[in-house]
Amino acid sequence: MPDLLAVENLSAGYGEAIVISEVSLRLRNGEALAVLGRNGTGKTTLLNSLIGVTRRFGGTIALDGRDLTQARPEQRAAAGFGWVPQERNIFRSLTVEENLTAVARPGPWDLSRIYRLFPRLEERRRNLGSQLSGGEQQMLAIARALVLNPRVLLLDEPTEGLAPIIVEELLRTLKRLVREEGLAAIVVEQHAHKVLAITDNAVILERGRIVHAAPSVELRSDSVALERHLGVARTAGGRRAAPSVSL
Ligand SMILES: Nc1ncnc2c1ncn2[C@@H]1O[C@H](COP(=O)(O)OP(=O)(O)O)[C@@H](O)[C@H]1O
Ligand SMILES: [Mg+2]
Repeated sequence: MPDLLAVENLSAGYGEAIVISEVSLRLRNGEALAVLGRNGTGKTTLLNSLIGVTRRFGGTIALDGRDLTQARPEQRAAAGFGWVPQERNIFRSLTVEENLTAVARPGPWDLSRIYRLFPRLEERRRNLGSQLSGGEQQMLAIARALVLNPRVLLLDEPTEGLAPIIVEELLRTLKRLVREEGLAAIVVEQHAHKVLAITDNAVILERGRIVHAAPSVELRSDSVALERHLGVARTAGGRRAAPSVSL
């Protein structure tokens, strides 16, 4: 199968600062990729560089065979990047439903399909964005990216700051999205084990470079790589191996 997304030797940053260096990634239809790394290693900058809001120093980006290297952010969005920012950025003064209809584009992801995936959002459809809990805001941010009918969903630390029970619910939904609905996704996470269970492949960033790439199932049980690059080591069964440092 040809690559849906092909990123070659991408270097990018802000102003004079190069934050990510020579990053190469490939993503096929229906595949999910985890982007892992400690705080400040360039994970958000990588997503920002895909959607086109950083300064590019080199490399190329192609989506579905179309070269987007020089494309503007709105052209990239139209080409199929559905971005869920770390800050969520929902419209607080609009209702849940207005948040969705304000940005929706024709395609298989319409309101009824969104509400089947997120029954909580249907219950809250007439509530304002400002009235939602953190978990509901994250669901709305994901839903808002889905109604764009993207080719690739880009999720930036979707579980950050959420209560454990909400994290579990969100991860189940994300798993359904990639496993059952076949959506291609890049999931940035600091908590490796959560996301390795729902992705096919993983890369680890250190100082803006990919220092490790492996199938997610392999990385889950590779306590040496997890410890070295992320400071965390657990066995595949979720048991913590000593010595380890919590993220
Ligand atoms: N808008 C910006 N302008 C300048 N430097 C930035 C900006 N955003 C992030 N950086 C720098 O880029 C580096 C990587 O940040 P970021 O991509 O946010 O990392 P992560 O998402 O992995 O925590 C950090 O050193 C950060 O200070
Ligand atoms: Mg970040």
